[in-house]
Amino acid sequence: MDRIFSGIQPSGEIHIGNYVGAIRNWARLVERYECIYCVVDYHAITIEYEVELMQQRILETGTILVACGLTPERCIVFVQSHVPEHTELAWIFNCVTPVGELERMTQFKEKAKQHRQNINMGLLDYPVLQAADILIYKAGFVPVGEDQIQHVELAREIARKFNARFGNTFPEPQVILSDAPRILGTDGNAKMSKSMNNAIGLLEPPETIWERLRTAVTDVNRQRRSDPGNPDRCNIFTMHQAFSKPDQISYIDQNCRTAGIGCIECKEILFKNMMEELTPIQERVREIREKPGYMIDVLRSGANRCKAIVKEVMEEVRTKIGIKAFWV
Ligand code: TYM
Repeated sequence: MDRIFSGIQPSGEIHIGNYVGAIRNWARLVERYECIYCVVDYHAITIEYEVELMQQRILETGTILVACGLTPERCIVFVQSHVPEHTELAWIFNCVTPVGELERMTQFKEKAKQHRQNINMGLLDYPVLQAADILIYKAGFVPVGEDQIQHVELAREIARKFNARFGNTFPEPQVILSDAPRILGTDGNAKMSKSMNNAIGLLEPPETIWERLRTAVTDVNRQRRSDPGNPDRCNIFTMHQAFSKPDQISYIDQNCRTAGIGCIECKEILFKNMMEELTPIQERVREIREKPGYMIDVLRSGANRCKAIVKEVMEEVRTKIGIKAFWV
């Protein structure tokens, strides 16, 4: 069975962009692939973060993954730093990765702008660690949102460079996009992300979610209720495509264009559908939180399963690059 790898940062609250762009798709893929999903804590420390909250955030992110159906019976869920070989392979990859490739990464340029005071090596090297995450499992497919396509392309290039220099070792992984690979934030302008303050948190109470939807920007050209709208320019419509049923989507498409329904009515339908999907997840999160030790066991056994895989791959890599321990 082909292997899948993907990761998510434990940096603050998981939002519905993460959910429909990645996690929901991860849960669908467990049926057909051997799946490994990772809470990438070493990636999250490349920007300023609250040290005392990190441990909690790692656990919370793992909890959300399990609550979304990524149970240990169906796939592996683990924490990146629990399998230190990821960073070891990243170092080896550093030595085949041109700096120029990293400097032209869109996410690096954006983050360097956002964090001018702290443009550290980790921020630049971020995609190399991501390549190591994927390739250390020889994963063939990587389900991510649109913003990560460039990083997966770089992982392919790193695999090619390594293979050319040291002999065929790694497959070139391919991206799998979800049906909603790019969700904009409530500002209707930038990609939904915690750092842009435009996100709808997966675990937020219904009142808060409704408040965020109610005030979210729609088609900016639709000023009055009587103006016809254009769903193609409306982020609420994109969210409908992620959460609503096909007949509702075509109803909204038609009635928005003819001013048959107003934005609030449209948002009410979305809110209802969204909560239908999020409520059971929120309930499962509460249940898991009540079982002390459960998540720790999930993450510990996840790490152990990964360690067995990476041990072999790292032995192969060390041998190929000529630095195998003398006594092995
Ligand atoms: P992260 O934590 O930023 O995002 C996790 C996943 O959510 C997707 N995503 C979105 N999808 C649609 N619309 C949005 N507004 C939106 N915001 C986020 C992301 O595309 C991602 O799939 N670099 C990765 C973490 C990572 C990784 C890996 C991924 C580390 N190593 C190896 C795959 C394979 C990231 O930024 O995740």
